[in-house]
Amino acid sequence: MKRLLTLALIACCTCSYAGNKLPDIIPAPKSIEMQSGSFNVKGACVNYDQSLEKRTVDAVAKLADDLYVATGRVSSVASAAGIGASTPLKQLKGIYFVKDASMPAEAYTIEVGGRAVKVSASDHNGFIYAISSIRQMLPVELLSGKTVSGVKWKLPCCVIKDSPRFGYRGLMLDSSRHFWRVEEVKRFLAIMSVYKLNRLHWHLTDDQGWRVEIHNYPRLTEVGAFRAQTALPYSPEFDGKRYGGYYTQEEIKDVVAYAENLGITIVPEIDLPGHMIAAMASYPWLGCDGGPYEVRTQWGIDKRVLCPGKDSTFEFLEGVMEELCKLFPGEYIHIGGDECPKKSWEECPHCQAKIAELGLVSDEHGTKEQRLQNYVTKRMQDFLATKGRKIIGWDEILEGDLAEGATVMSWRGTKGGIKASAKGFDVVMSPNTYCYFDYYQSDRWDEEPIGIARGRKFLPLEKVYGYEPFEGFTPGAEGHILGVQANLWTEYIAEESHLEYMLLPRLLALSEVQWSPAGTKDYEAFLAKVKARHLPMLDILGYNYRKLD
Ligand code: ACM
Ligand code: ZN
Repeated sequence: MKRLLTLALIACCTCSYAGNKLPDIIPAPKSIEMQSGSFNVKGACVNYDQSLEKRTVDAVAKLADDLYVATGRVSSVASAAGIGASTPLKQLKGIYFVKDASMPAEAYTIEVGGRAVKVSASDHNGFIYAISSIRQMLPVELLSGKTVSGVKWKLPCCVIKDSPRFGYRGLMLDSSRHFWRVEEVKRFLAIMSVYKLNRLHWHLTDDQGWRVEIHNYPRLTEVGAFRAQTALPYSPEFDGKRYGGYYTQEEIKDVVAYAENLGITIVPEIDLPGHMIAAMASYPWLGCDGGPYEVRTQWGIDKRVLCPGKDSTFEFLEGVMEELCKLFPGEYIHIGGDECPKKSWEECPHCQAKIAELGLVSDEHGTKEQRLQNYVTKRMQDFLATKGRKIIGWDEILEGDLAEGATVMSWRGTKGGIKASAKGFDVVMSPNTYCYFDYYQSDRWDEEPIGIARGRKFLPLEKVYGYEPFEGFTPGAEGHILGVQANLWTEYIAEESHLEYMLLPRLLALSEVQWSPAGTKDYEAFLAKVKARHLPMLDILGYNYRKLD
């Protein structure tokens, strides 16, 4: 009992313990006050405030439906007239979802008493996070989709006051190197939502495949979405099989709407000016030497990149962005910017003429070709600003002179983020040292499915959990850290079960880094929750995951 008490006290910021065991909620909430007693959800009426958004009411109704199916007793759903955030719990009977406009975005409160449960939040995300926490407090059989007897359908009496540490809680999915069907992307989004992530960074284009339909440039998907074959892992051989696929604009809209219901904004990435061979294979005039090019069949970096010396390149990029902005309503468009070799620009007369025209020079802060990339970044930034959008890019966009207003995604360790914040830029921390989920999960290479950086780099669960995003930043720079993101590059991942294996359970550790208050983490307590509740939950939901060591 003493051990349990200790775990309970350190697993969240402010916790108190009276009679009930602390629930196994991941990510750990900001504050939980446990009380004695419980609320029986079997047959409870679920009431919602009439001012809630339709998508929130749908999420509440889904909870009621799951309670009905699992407990075998009808959980009616009703709109609650005359009940508000200030109505005391003791005047209520049943489960209530009430809007409290004074609460911050994404925050929620759950009060569980013997006769009633009251959930308060000011927005959709707050309510769906409360629902996720309620589900995690109930027996895991809730998710089984069938009536289960012999379990106690009770919520422990408690007060949970919760809100996220960071506003940007992201995960990147690479749909270029391997293509993920709409149903697979939705399953990926669904598990993100369980763990309160709110951004899917969708890597939609790269050398090995262009995946988004653009009506004005049909060859991008007719040609650029397919490669002739694929390199076999760690081998000079190829598989000899044509590979590809793309999302139609209707499919994209469907995924965006699905994500919105889960409280997730999609940040689409068009990686430019490097990583563009699939586009250049479709329209060879996009390259410095005019091609021909073939959609790349190997991994790694291609030295052939877009030609910013020609106006036609910008006309193309703006045409793509124009359509992209109509599909993705979020504030950010990711413009990539990583790994852009400059050799073709050094040799290209168009690029050199552009450099001369712009008066770009090399100095100790950057070369003239790096400054040509700054020019590309700025042109995209200015164009996207006309659509009301902001740009985010990999930390290479910082080289040379980055224009004000851009956000930097730090991936080459943490130094890019530290440097960017010191210069006044906002950053999203996604260091490969803690956040690259394509890395092996163990150094026992032979026991793991194939991954990237075999024999050189691995990223075990505990290391992800141990990431402290403020480490290395100068005091005062914290305000520039918008949040944290993990990346799932898929060069070596071709099957959904493998994708899930690389994601889980590391996603759970990431979620505590993104959500739970600073300085409250405890790996043993986290592991206990993973074992007791979350692996059984993943089993019921049918997700593949790496077993704990
Ligand atoms: C990256 O991993 N090239 C951003
Ligand atoms: Zn050029």
